[in-house]
Amino acid sequence: MEQQEAKALGLLAEYETPQALMAAAEKVRDGGYKRWDTHTPFPVHGIDDAMGIQPTILPWIVLGAGATGTLTALLLQWYTNGVDYPFLISGKPLFSWVPAFPVTFELTVLFAGITTLLGMLALNRLPRLHNPLFDVKRFARATQDRFFLALDATDPLFEDSSARALLEGSGATAVEDVPDVPTNENIPSWMWQVAIVLVFATFVPLGLIAASYNSTSTTPPFHIVGDMDWQESYRYGEEVPFFDNGQAMRGALPGTVAVGELEEDDAFYRGMDDMGNWLAVAPVEVSKSVLERGRERYNIYCLPCHGESGNGKGIVHERALALDTSGWLIPRDLTMDSIVTQPDGQIYDTITNGFNYDAETGTGNMAPYAAQIRPEDRWAIVLYVRALQRAANASIEDVPADKRSAL
Ligand code: HEC
Repeated sequence: MEQQEAKALGLLAEYETPQALMAAAEKVRDGGYKRWDTHTPFPVHGIDDAMGIQPTILPWIVLGAGATGTLTALLLQWYTNGVDYPFLISGKPLFSWVPAFPVTFELTVLFAGITTLLGMLALNRLPRLHNPLFDVKRFARATQDRFFLALDATDPLFEDSSARALLEGSGATAVEDVPDVPTNENIPSWMWQVAIVLVFATFVPLGLIAASYNSTSTTPPFHIVGDMDWQESYRYGEEVPFFDNGQAMRGALPGTVAVGELEEDDAFYRGMDDMGNWLAVAPVEVSKSVLERGRERYNIYCLPCHGESGNGKGIVHERALALDTSGWLIPRDLTMDSIVTQPDGQIYDTITNGFNYDAETGTGNMAPYAAQIRPEDRWAIVLYVRALQRAANASIEDVPADKRSAL
């Protein structure tokens, strides 16, 4: 088969000095050619003018991109904060450019920056993996000591004979065809393989996100250093197989006392004297604040049953009667004689241990309040109960003499 003569892609002229190249460039420029370029081992000053290169339009493109970024950021923040999901914070305006500024700045720079890079590449038609000039042997000296001018055959003015004459008459030491050597335009298969692997690799993060999105597990998917986050811990009252009795809460060991819990003072902690008799008078100082405290605690813990005045008709009692609960034990009227005459220590003991209460079965007339009320508060309640009794059994003698006439 007859070998078809390959059509040249253009002409390459070689010069020995930058001056010669400059002069040639001016001629080609004045000849009206548009698709051509010069190649030199080092930057040649004035070559831009000699070639008639116009300033790049890249700055305008970047300006437009930056403005787009500004508008995008402002619109985004105005729409999300001011329109789509208005969220009033401290009466501030829903949209204002001042707080929107950081995002606006960032988007402006981001759009402009990316456009600068991509615009530069696009305007320069990069990336270009192969240039036909590489197939001209002498062109290798473009990086050493020769100056070249390449005229592209796609230029509208290009006509082989006239272009060749122009270059030959421009002081070139040689003018040569740029051959159209067929190149392998296929991307090497290993690149395909790597690309496919990379594409699939990009699905991994997406897959992980989707998996954790649909996950009902409460443990975090990634937790490289667990530290103390995963230690076994139990809540109050939880069951734990480790201990014989299955209770997570550990009681005091028999024969031991926790720091600060040595309750040696029988009078204060048990309301008894050395002989084991009830204290007649509470072992605490009586003051207005103690009585206030006593009233507060009484109203919290005792009032529901024993009533605000201590008469035994609290709201729980009223409710029990309304429900007609048979077997409901009426709370004691705390102002009755038999309790007025009780020693302080005995009332303290009733609060601490309950009344007729069986700790084994958890049943009895009144449950103990030792777990809820601290000893000093129990004494404060005792004092307040005394005040209630005093109020319930008051006589005219309790009123100061000068105020009696007012009654
Ligand atoms: C859940 C209801 C209830 C609560 C709350 C309650 N009690 Fe009682 N209380 C009773 C009942 C019931 C009795 C026994 C009545 C009986 O046995 O006749 C009683 C008896 C008493 C007695 C008489 C004991 C005796 O020796 O006769 C005193 C004193 C007393 N309570 C004080 C208090 C104090 C102080 C509080 C608050 C810390 C309190 N109670 C909280 C139901 C209650």
